[in-house]
Amino acid sequence: MHFDLTEEHLMIQKAAREFAQNELKPGVIERDEHQKFPTEQVKKMGELGFLGMMVDPKYGGGGMDAISYVLAMEEISKVDASCSVIMSVNNSLVCWGLEQFGTEEQKQKYLVPLAKGEIIGAFCLSEPEAGSDATSQRTTGIDKGDHYLVNGTKNWITNGNSASVYLVMVQTNKEAGHKGINCLILEKGMPGFVVGPKENKMGIRASDTHSLMFENVKVPKANRIGEEGFGFKFAMKVLSGGRIGIASQALGIASGAYELALQYSKERKAFGKEISQHQIIQFKLADMATRIEAARLLIYRSAWLKDQHLPFDKESAMAKVFASETAMWVSTEAVQVHGGYGYVKEYHVERLMRDAKITQIYEGTSEVQRIVISRQVLA
Ligand code: CAA
Repeated sequence: MHFDLTEEHLMIQKAAREFAQNELKPGVIERDEHQKFPTEQVKKMGELGFLGMMVDPKYGGGGMDAISYVLAMEEISKVDASCSVIMSVNNSLVCWGLEQFGTEEQKQKYLVPLAKGEIIGAFCLSEPEAGSDATSQRTTGIDKGDHYLVNGTKNWITNGNSASVYLVMVQTNKEAGHKGINCLILEKGMPGFVVGPKENKMGIRASDTHSLMFENVKVPKANRIGEEGFGFKFAMKVLSGGRIGIASQALGIASGAYELALQYSKERKAFGKEISQHQIIQFKLADMATRIEAARLLIYRSAWLKDQHLPFDKESAMAKVFASETAMWVSTEAVQVHGGYGYVKEYHVERLMRDAKITQIYEGTSEVQRIVISRQVLA
């Protein structure tokens, strides 16, 4: 059993850390405050190879393993979770989905520019009445021979306006239930495809989350991913990998908040000594460090399983539920350690606490992860 990171892993971790500290930290408070999409920063992430990390170099990617991706996600999320969700959706949902299940033509047309970070993508499953219950898709795709006619609405779509390519789940045969769902590749600008208003969110405020409306959008049959009716399984398989990305985001939020609390506790004095010298703060720091390490091990293991092409659905669900609950708990405690300072924006921990909450909701709520885990332990 090896717990050591390779030289290459350490290099990627260092590169991501430097990028986050030098390029993301300045302006992160302002982008959050004004919900300003990080256009320049995302461009730079593409140039540095952070948007298609695991994609085969023949399709423009970095050809790295999932552990490398986890390391980069953690470093970027410590500083700016808005940037890391953009990165996560592009890497784990859009690029990975296209690379695993797309046709050669789809890969050349869409995956190559996505992996190079020239454009970004979005993954569109959630609907006003289909969140956790993802089989209840209402967006329809009527088979018209050489194309599908798409009508409906998607909600809470990350990269909703900034994306150029959208993987959209549609119901093409209602009677067939989940076997009637297909994933279609839509392009921004297709007639009838409308981007709705931006959501005003609690956290990850610099990422753009939108609803999308489709009114008689003609999508060529060549844009369907996989065989007829493969869409739901496609979504589930892709989300299993996506959960490793969101777990890593949660890990980054937790470790970012912990590092700030640790540093602050050594500087702030109360009752005649640094607060780190009070046992009540020491115990908080000990619990934070322990939970973070446990989350990290669950995530590394699920990433390792994915790299070995072994089943990882249960493990990625465990990693996500544990890491996201750790992020919420640690960031809340980090605010507490900071006292009044923690409640104001300049100290960063209040943003990390707001950002932590979404990791318990998207790419499957904590309740959904428990469904996935319990079905496997009871099987
Ligand atoms: N891999 C392959 N197939 C899978 C699978 C997986 N991981 N999980 C399920 N399936 C298959 C099942 O085997 C079954 O197929 P058969 O009928 O052929 O056996 C089929 O899919 C239906 O599965 P279930 O019966 O388990 O489906 P369910 O209705 O009970 O739902 C669920 C299960 C786990 C709750 C699922 O609906 C789910 O994951 N919901 C949450 C969806 C989600 O994560 N949404 C997030 C939106 S995306 C997002 O947030 C991105 C973003 O912008 C940040």
